[in-house]
Amino acid sequence: MKGLVLSGGKGTRLYPITYTSAKQLVPVANKPVLFRVIEAIVEAGIMEIGVVVGDTAEEIENAVGDGSRWGARITYIPQEAPLGLAHAVKISQDFLGDERFVMFLGDNVIESGISSLVRQFQDSDYNCQIVLTHVPHPEQYGVAELEDGRIVRLVEKPRQPKSNLALVGIYMFDHHVFEAVNAITPSWRGELEITDAIQYLVDKGYKVYPYVHEGWWIDTGAPGDMLDANRLVLDEIVHRIEGYVDRDSRVSGKVTIEKGAKIINSVIRGPAIIGQETRIVNSYVGPFTSIYHHVSIEGSEIEHSIVLEHSRIIDIDQRIENSLIGRNVEITRSPLKPKAHKMTLGDNSRLGIVCNG
Ligand code: DAU
Repeated sequence: MKGLVLSGGKGTRLYPITYTSAKQLVPVANKPVLFRVIEAIVEAGIMEIGVVVGDTAEEIENAVGDGSRWGARITYIPQEAPLGLAHAVKISQDFLGDERFVMFLGDNVIESGISSLVRQFQDSDYNCQIVLTHVPHPEQYGVAELEDGRIVRLVEKPRQPKSNLALVGIYMFDHHVFEAVNAITPSWRGELEITDAIQYLVDKGYKVYPYVHEGWWIDTGAPGDMLDANRLVLDEIVHRIEGYVDRDSRVSGKVTIEKGAKIINSVIRGPAIIGQETRIVNSYVGPFTSIYHHVSIEGSEIEHSIVLEHSRIIDIDQRIENSLIGRNVEITRSPLKPKAHKMTLGDNSRLGIVCNG
């Protein structure tokens, strides 16, 4: 099988993390979402991967490279404009040839990877299998209706959904999908919809089946809570200490401390991740916290938060919680009142924190 990752679309500055203009490169638990997608495909045994790119092609190619770091071979497929998920399939026909493939949206993260669903499709004679999951607000997604375990209807973001089964952004196809993407016409929003292509397969009598995913799933492209995504993904990290932890520090629970990080006279309670060359001195880092590379935290306490690179948090005497802190942010002491620490800070912010006395 081959893999097809959709990482096109327009470059938009992402609020509140203006970290990158490619939403697929936003880090969750210290790793860009797109890297997680590629790793999930490789883990399922697929090494030949096409990545569809748009406006942000350069940024994505610089970050991802040729795939060799994952033992994969990556081919970039430029899409002139975001003309729809089915359009992305259409322009990838030369790359995909007659092979069965899994298509994975580059801004989605799914619990426990995709190995079991890829295996199920490989062992079947299905022409298409799509991953679905139960959601509370199906109207925000593509929605599927089932009959006798088969897909009978798909509607993209319906006003009145007929089920609460949303399309998760992972689809498996054989070459019959090219017949479908070449037959359909653009929708009211001007896109070639993958839901229309799959509906075409259903209507022509091809075998289209669901795979209902029971774990968590995050569409990081949707304006949601990065802290929630971070919490879910951190639960899956491995305990790995590659940095330096001095004798006066305590590290407990599942914690990753990356190369070059230094933990001095501090407490780290997992799940948490401390990035490369980051210094944690006389501090407490609590559960569900991701501290990225080249950060300094001194004399402070933080938990359930994300801190991106080159930020500094120094001598803050009240615990920082539920906070999202961008790049190059500096948080130091300030005499101003009232006292409260609850922040969502963009890149290059400067914040003076209230302190006693
Ligand atoms: O996340 C699941 C949902 O993803 C599904 O439930 C929907 O059925 C499906 O249409 C899709 O909806 P979104 O509104 O989230 O799609 P979005 O435009 O955000 O595109 C998803 C990814 O695909 C994103 O990483 C950008 C990329 N893309 C998108 C389009 C339209 C491309 O590479 N090319 C494109 O033409």
